[in-house]
Amino acid sequence: MTKTYLEAAVEIAREAGKILREELDRPANISYKGEFDLVTQADRRSEALIVSRLQKYFPEHSVAAEEGTGKETGSQYRWHVDPLDGTTNFAHRYPCFCVSLALARQNELLLGVIYNPVYEELFSAARGEGATLNGKKLHCSKIEVLKNSLLCTGFPNHDRHSHPNIHYYWDFTLKSHGVRRDGSAALDLASVAAGRFDGFWEFGLKPWDTAAGVVLVEEAGGTVSDMQGNPYVPGGKTILATNGLIHKEMKRMSGEIAQRYSPAK
Ligand code: IPD
Ligand code: CA
Ligand code: CA
Repeated sequence: MTKTYLEAAVEIAREAGKILREELDRPANISYKGEFDLVTQADRRSEALIVSRLQKYFPEHSVAAEEGTGKETGSQYRWHVDPLDGTTNFAHRYPCFCVSLALARQNELLLGVIYNPVYEELFSAARGEGATLNGKKLHCSKIEVLKNSLLCTGFPNHDRHSHPNIHYYWDFTLKSHGVRRDGSAALDLASVAAGRFDGFWEFGLKPWDTAAGVVLVEEAGGTVSDMQGNPYVPGGKTILATNGLIHKEMKRMSGEIAQRYSPAK
């Protein structure tokens, strides 16, 4: 095996992205995992390619893949695989979706690769080595205050009623230049790393949604925590990822919103 982990992840993400492009030109073959939780042939084909390629290159590594075809080997290395992040967008032909791959060693995220095959944007980052977009160094934005920021969030497909995010969406919209809702958490995080968004938050994301994006944001100089400011653990209940400069302000406002809308009131 001569490829580095990052080279392998880049190669695999690009090939999986090719499958998504191909599938976009066909009628979407949609089925449902829950009332609003879609899955398409594109998710499955992309995952099959990624998992088989990872198993070929790194047979000893564990693979946690969203559609359930990964495997647990007991290795300290684990790949977090989202074969198509933004399935709802994809199914409606809204061109905002990606492949997201990350490698962790125990609890440490080592690298992340996110590929948007429509815009041919390849975001990649390795711990301690910075983040890039199509080979060019990435930096988070320099916006210092919430009122001058552009934010982003998302709403889960599952358990919609148990998430209070609509209150956060409302309040942050009134206190910033606006809040986008693009439908791909991985691309949302990549956009924070690229300085397009100044902050992102969401409830209930899975490790395959966030792992690659977290490495990108941190390596681009940003900050990632949960919404209380505690260290973020992939799969944790909440995530807050910012350029670092507006982190405190977003965290403080999240606390105020949580108080105002707590179910006890
Ligand atoms: C979804 C997207 C979306 C987020 C949802 C995720 P999927 O992933 O990342 O932006 O709001 O919570 O489930 O299902 O398209 O891979
Ligand atoms: Ca996802
Ligand atoms: Ca997915």
